[in-house]
Amino acid sequence: MADKKFWKSFATTYWEKRSVCLTGIKSSIFNIDSDCIFKLLVRYSDHCRKTKTLVGMKFYIEGHLQYLEDVLDLLPKAKDGSLLGYHRRMDEMFFDYCLVCDELIQVAPEEWKLLGEFVMGLYDQVGLPSKFAEMGLYLGNYRTTPFGVHSDGCGVISIPVEGTKKFLVWNSKFVEKNPKLKRTHQYKAYRKHADRWVANPGDIVYWPASHWHIAESTGSFSATWSIGFWLDEPLSEIILKALKPLLATTLSDFRSIALGDGIREDGLIEALPEVLNLSHSELVRISSDEMHDVFVKYWLEIVSKNGFRNSPPNLGSKNRLVVQEKIFWTKLSHQRICVAAKGILQELPDSPKWVTLIQSINSGKIVDLKYFSQKELNLFQKIYPINKK
Ligand SMILES: [Fe+2]
Repeated sequence: MADKKFWKSFATTYWEKRSVCLTGIKSSIFNIDSDCIFKLLVRYSDHCRKTKTLVGMKFYIEGHLQYLEDVLDLLPKAKDGSLLGYHRRMDEMFFDYCLVCDELIQVAPEEWKLLGEFVMGLYDQVGLPSKFAEMGLYLGNYRTTPFGVHSDGCGVISIPVEGTKKFLVWNSKFVEKNPKLKRTHQYKAYRKHADRWVANPGDIVYWPASHWHIAESTGSFSATWSIGFWLDEPLSEIILKALKPLLATTLSDFRSIALGDGIREDGLIEALPEVLNLSHSELVRISSDEMHDVFVKYWLEIVSKNGFRNSPPNLGSKNRLVVQEKIFWTKLSHQRICVAAKGILQELPDSPKWVTLIQSINSGKIVDLKYFSQKELNLFQKIYPINKK
């Protein structure tokens, strides 16, 4: 795994400052290789075919986005055998195609720990992204990114797994002075001002959130997966998100606000409508303990998701995985604790047996479950699959 020294120097030199192509890095993140990405793509494509949906998937032919009914059969299938096998099937049909997928993490329970360790190394230096991180994939023989020179609003770490990937990156200052660059495919005159990166499997390319970029090729095949870091969530939105569950249980629903007699003829508003008055009373009754619980649970949720927008669900008991992942937990008010894994939270009584169970799991010890009733274990199963063998 990329070590602390690597991330420290990365954070100081490049993070949110400039783009770079790093070569010769030793990191287990490269275990997410071409075969692994193919396995995840087939898994997600099977899900799309089964549900007849294309959420998070986009397929472009010669720069044009295709529609659902035309695309399902064009997604990777197990019988393609590999990313290259899939490419051969597409290359026979299309001169220029591009497949984009933003949802691979949902079908990657085996890679979750690896991804978590990788991003946590970075977060240790730069903090969790204010909005979220997400895993993406770009694949194809497309000559240029279908939507031209663009900025995604997120910083990107891009990791090629097949072929050679070429990126041109411009900083936002340059693009503001040269707005013609925005969303264009005609960028020849600006080439010399771009950072030009040529990346192969084993390399990592990074560009900051504000930077504009385009990928290009001569028509050869390449596949790249990436982690995008969205840093643009205002604090007010974060606080609102954290407060939402409490507000939903505290405030009553309503469909209209009765005018009452608080609005005078001369326009002066003398009194609040009843529903807002009641809401005000409810809000001032929220105790400091309740407020603290709300924030600590929000923090638990995002930390246990490694800052990612989505996380892979726990697999059902039939295919139960023994994934050695950390359980995060915290003390709440009123003798309760809250445990969390992959963004799923469960409140439990603050008793020594629960605390011992969590600490034992986190230290990799064999856990003796004889002190737990089936009802208690069912509560815990919600967040963490227990393999009784
Ligand atoms: Fe992009």
